[in-house]
Amino acid sequence: MNATNVGYLVHLAFIVGAALFVVGLHLMNSPATARTGNRVSATGMIIAVAAEIAFVAEGQVGIGNWLIIAGGLLVGGGLGLRMARTVAMTQMPQLVSLFNAVGGGAAALLAISDFIALDGLRVLAGGAPGLDGWRSLFILADVIVGSVTFTGSLIASAKLMGLIRGRPILIPFGRIVSWFVVVCGLSVSIVLILAGMGIVTYDVNVLYLLLAVALTCALVFGMLMVLPIGGADMPVVISLLNAFTGTAVSMAGFVVGNVMLIVAGALVGASGAILTRLMATAMNRSIGNILVGGFGAAEGTQAAFTSEDGSVREVSVDDAAIQLAYASKVIIVPGYGLAVAQAQHGVRELADLLEARGIEVSYAIHPVAGRMPGHMNVLLAEANVPYPQLREMEEINPEFERTDVALVVGANDVTNPAARADRSSPIFGMPILDVDKARSIIVMKRSMGRGYAGIDNPLYLNPKTGMYFADAKKGLQQLVAAVKAL
Ligand code: TAP
Repeated sequence: MNATNVGYLVHLAFIVGAALFVVGLHLMNSPATARTGNRVSATGMIIAVAAEIAFVAEGQVGIGNWLIIAGGLLVGGGLGLRMARTVAMTQMPQLVSLFNAVGGGAAALLAISDFIALDGLRVLAGGAPGLDGWRSLFILADVIVGSVTFTGSLIASAKLMGLIRGRPILIPFGRIVSWFVVVCGLSVSIVLILAGMGIVTYDVNVLYLLLAVALTCALVFGMLMVLPIGGADMPVVISLLNAFTGTAVSMAGFVVGNVMLIVAGALVGASGAILTRLMATAMNRSIGNILVGGFGAAEGTQAAFTSEDGSVREVSVDDAAIQLAYASKVIIVPGYGLAVAQAQHGVRELADLLEARGIEVSYAIHPVAGRMPGHMNVLLAEANVPYPQLREMEEINPEFERTDVALVVGANDVTNPAARADRSSPIFGMPILDVDKARSIIVMKRSMGRGYAGIDNPLYLNPKTGMYFADAKKGLQQLVAAVKAL
């Protein structure tokens, strides 16, 4: 086959790969089709990689390069496979963050290598007006966005792994230093782009030095951007950095003229940006507010409940079992505590028992329950909870009024009625599950402890609420035994 035909076939394969990415993303809309979506997207990626290898092969690559390609595939693929197989569900955000760092770093390296391959834009430095201005723009954008993502994601991951303090880390004169690196990095980048366009002319060594300054500024800014953000805000930041990774990869596609990278990067960038926005909206916070930090650090700042606010009614496991077993409609509200306790199998067992008694059971899923997007969906899917029983917030909220018992397991903020009623509450305006509208409410958690937002929950003082203080896993086991004994 001649080179032109190979070129056509490779482009055709890229189009097929890109189409599979889009179809795969669409299938990820629903938990029922998400696994298929993942497989479809993976197939698209295999096609893209195979096509790229065929393209490289056509260019008569030396054996040394083949060894590098094969080594990269083996080491990268092997590590990725091992990490994905062994990671615990609760460690998923830090894994995604590490992948973001790798993606951003790879995109930045690609741009730097392109810069070196062009010998520091030597041709342009010699003055060839307008020749490669766009290319130098993409190279610079790629280096900067990729490097910010690299260090930002590494810090985010280290915070979540507990390698560095999760709470906001404030550096003396941090804001001033941040502004300095932003202004310095952007100024140097503009000079480099002008050099790329042939408007200004520099010695090649000066160009290398300027690139090194831009790179350093971006790396430092990535760290400064994430260090002051509280650990609990990390999932939103990780999603934002994911959008950055996509943008960097897309820029890398422009740099090396690879359509597949442009499309894949654009999809990741757009979906990451949409997810970041959805998460911020579901928490009723602006992205700027998250980046500036503060939420979650508020723990302990709000006055705790006093006896004048009302009293807490505790229920025993037998009381809770009787209420549940003689209900006709039960809604289970899972939250972060369910994930921490790994109690998903227990909740499924309880639901099965209740259903066997003819009780209608469903699960109310808040978009930001837990600590990562889709946390509750993934957790309950692990316990093989049937997808139709998982109901989104907008869909299930009108049903609470007709519900005999709402069983809250390890959820707190997502049920806090202060978000609806108390203008002074930090979570005022955040959409919540209308648990307080149920005829009776059982809350299973270990104590009166606060949730992520660090504020008290008036739901616990509601006369309809019975507090069942227990670890979610143990509490559910006891509840299952008590229902069985009835
Ligand atoms: P939270 O408000 O964080 O409350 C979780 C509750 O679980 C705590 O009050 C805790 O009370 C209880 N708990 C902890 N360990 C437990 C265990 N072993 N057994 C039983 N209970 C346990 O959780 P939520 O209602 O799911 O809300 C999520 C929060 O995280 C929201 O504020 C949301 O904005 C935020 N957030 C979410 C995301 C995403 S993407 N999901 C990202 C960032 C932030 P005790 O200590 O008394 O047991």
